[in-house]
Amino acid sequence: MDQFLIKGSSRIAGEVTISGAKNAALPLLAAMILAKTPSTLHNVPLLQDVRTLIKLIAGMGIVIKKDQSTVICDTKTIDNFYAPYDLVKTMRASILVLGPLLARFGEAEVSLPGGCAIGSRPVDQHLKAFEAMGAIIKVENGYVKAQAPKGGRLIGCDYSFDMVTVGGTENVIMAAALAKGTTRLENCAREPEVVDLANMLVAMGAKISGIGTANMTIEGVDELYGCEYSVVADRIETGSYLAGALMTQGDVLTKSTSPLLLRPVLKKFEAMGATISSGDDWIRAQINKRPQPVDIRTQPHPGFPTDMQAQLMAICCLADGTSTIIENIFENRFMHVPELKRLGANIKVDGHTAIVKGVEKFTAAPVMATDLRASMSLVMAAAAAEGESLIDRIYHIDRGYEDVENKLRALGVHIERINPKK
Ligand code: EPZ
Repeated sequence: MDQFLIKGSSRIAGEVTISGAKNAALPLLAAMILAKTPSTLHNVPLLQDVRTLIKLIAGMGIVIKKDQSTVICDTKTIDNFYAPYDLVKTMRASILVLGPLLARFGEAEVSLPGGCAIGSRPVDQHLKAFEAMGAIIKVENGYVKAQAPKGGRLIGCDYSFDMVTVGGTENVIMAAALAKGTTRLENCAREPEVVDLANMLVAMGAKISGIGTANMTIEGVDELYGCEYSVVADRIETGSYLAGALMTQGDVLTKSTSPLLLRPVLKKFEAMGATISSGDDWIRAQINKRPQPVDIRTQPHPGFPTDMQAQLMAICCLADGTSTIIENIFENRFMHVPELKRLGANIKVDGHTAIVKGVEKFTAAPVMATDLRASMSLVMAAAAAEGESLIDRIYHIDRGYEDVENKLRALGVHIERINPKK
């Protein structure tokens, strides 16, 4: 398994270009299944999760090709509606093909995604909504077997999600776009990636109002057509690199991104003492002293994003005071805590609350990445630490951060990827 060797005491400073968002690219790729004619998607990040979803879609007989950061998809040769466990188990967002297959072809057999390190991550909300649209859903041998009602088409309905779910909202608006009649949704997720998907569906001919709000109305149409679209910038990648500046009294400029995508994060960075400047497509974070402590609780957008919790915690570990972090979205998203403590952090966890007492500095140690966003918090902490750290299981980071070593090197991080087995 690859590891990162990181020489510490770096000041994280420089410029980095942000890639397309993983969490937008995945639903957008799934949405291409809905189109009768070819679609082209630009600014697709080159990530393990993207490769997995492309492989899964290709397995349905669909022609889908990635050339650099552009993906072209032509669905006319589709010959099955099946998403196998061996692929879905490695990338749980594969469940997002369920809505498009069910809506366009009236049937789908998709493996239930397992849980993952951060939680059990059920998909009950997705399935309940499809049943409300008339689908017959059976869960057998670890697979969701879904059939549209007789006549082959989902039926628009009024539906309110029991809790805010990004994937649930995405799966259902894709299905509703081709349903017969109107679907009125309440308690929708409002993440920028959900907005990006809705905007692409509109470009394909869907009729959606209330985009970006908790209540969306989708008027089903008979057909959707291919379009040319570009993936929104990755707000979590942006926040992750800016966080490196706050940990090392640095100065990071992120380009090809937008301050509108991560306002709750930038507000916290300013509260910690960073100077944040920005333009339409760039954000800069500078700080020349120890960060101040903050209190955060993760919430659905426009609250503080759970995907930035580990990175913010790493900054709090070096703050001049005590911070409180409450994780409200996932049941097990503090696995980076014991690893940060190996680097010298002072953190006490009580259920969903972490109390972080700032220390002067991290000291190097061998640590282990446990999930995607925790990996980046450990990389930044190791870059700030005194001495040389080894980070194990960095395959997690390859799932969600494109070209990560070169981007970190451009920010002054001394990083080397090694594989002890080779
Ligand atoms: C998306 O996951 C993101 N992944 C996650 O990013 C992100 O953390 C999450 O949204 C929250 O913002 C992608 O977009 C590919 P949810 P998703 O459905 O859709 C519970 C990363 O690091 N729930 O909003 O799976 C669920 O267990 C990843 O990039 C149900 O109970 O998240 C969780 O506690 C990690 N039943 C909460 O809701 C359901 O049917 C939010 O989940 C669906 C969800």
